[in-house]
Amino acid sequence: MSNGSNKTFNRDQQFGHAEYWDERYKDSDGSAPTHEWLLSFVDLEPFLKTNLFDVPGLRSQDDPHPLVLHLGSGDSTIPIDLSRLGYTSQICADFSPTVVCLMREQHASFPGIEWRLLDLRDMQGIPPNSIDVAFDKSTLDAMIYGSPWSPPPEVKKNTGAYLQEVHRVLKPTGRFLCITFRQPHFMKPLLSQGGLFDLDMKVLNERGSFNYYGYISRKKSRSLSPTTSTSTSSSTSAPASTPPAIPISGVSDDAGAQEE
Ligand SMILES: C[S@@+](CC[C@H](N)C(=O)[O-])C[C@H]1O[C@@H](n2cnc3c(N)ncnc32)[C@H](O)[C@@H]1O
Repeated sequence: MSNGSNKTFNRDQQFGHAEYWDERYKDSDGSAPTHEWLLSFVDLEPFLKTNLFDVPGLRSQDDPHPLVLHLGSGDSTIPIDLSRLGYTSQICADFSPTVVCLMREQHASFPGIEWRLLDLRDMQGIPPNSIDVAFDKSTLDAMIYGSPWSPPPEVKKNTGAYLQEVHRVLKPTGRFLCITFRQPHFMKPLLSQGGLFDLDMKVLNERGSFNYYGYISRKKSRSLSPTTSTSTSSSTSAPASTPPAIPISGVSDDAGAQEE
């Protein structure tokens, strides 16, 4: 590996550690996001309108209210933007204690949002088949580093455990919305590994200089065996209780994690 590739590898590997994110979020001034990844709420509105706001059963006015799970919510404004539109059943999960505390304090006045310290590879306390919408913006991206052709075992293990957990908690009628900068020829095999989800994909930001992609994944009716959970971890290794990684082919690209 060249020095440049080594640097990218080391930088991207850090994104899988809670300690890295704690360090980053501790500088937040509490009034604006440290970093809104990839696309803002306004940028995403057309995608969300088609795949959330206008979908029967997932509309904010539907009874019962759809339960939205934010996967790696960080300090993104999207949960608050959704709350303003009437989404009052939301769980914002992140494994950085710093950002979870910050968000709890900052947004205490918003009803129906719970900021939860949680490792997404082992979502303890979230029952199977309980989530209507699971939303990921660049969190799966952050679990990926290294060569697309020969991903490190840790990447396969972490992404496999994560996707199994998303599948476990999603209702049969639910949707997993995943916004990513990574190229479709790497993401499609990753998201369809193990036959967990049926996928649709939209190209986003087509007029910008850099394309992003929005995946709409639905659970396949055939379920894999349920996962079991015993501990929450803040390190990059998947918790011991998670199932073995699903074998995958290319899962990364050479661009590394993109910051806007
Ligand atoms: C690239 S940031 C995206 C933040 C936010 N979704 C946004 O769009 O601004 C990734 C976030 O995922 C969180 N994260 C990464 N791996 C995680 C894991 N295994 N469990 C829980 N949170 C994780 C990080 O702490 C960080 O807040």
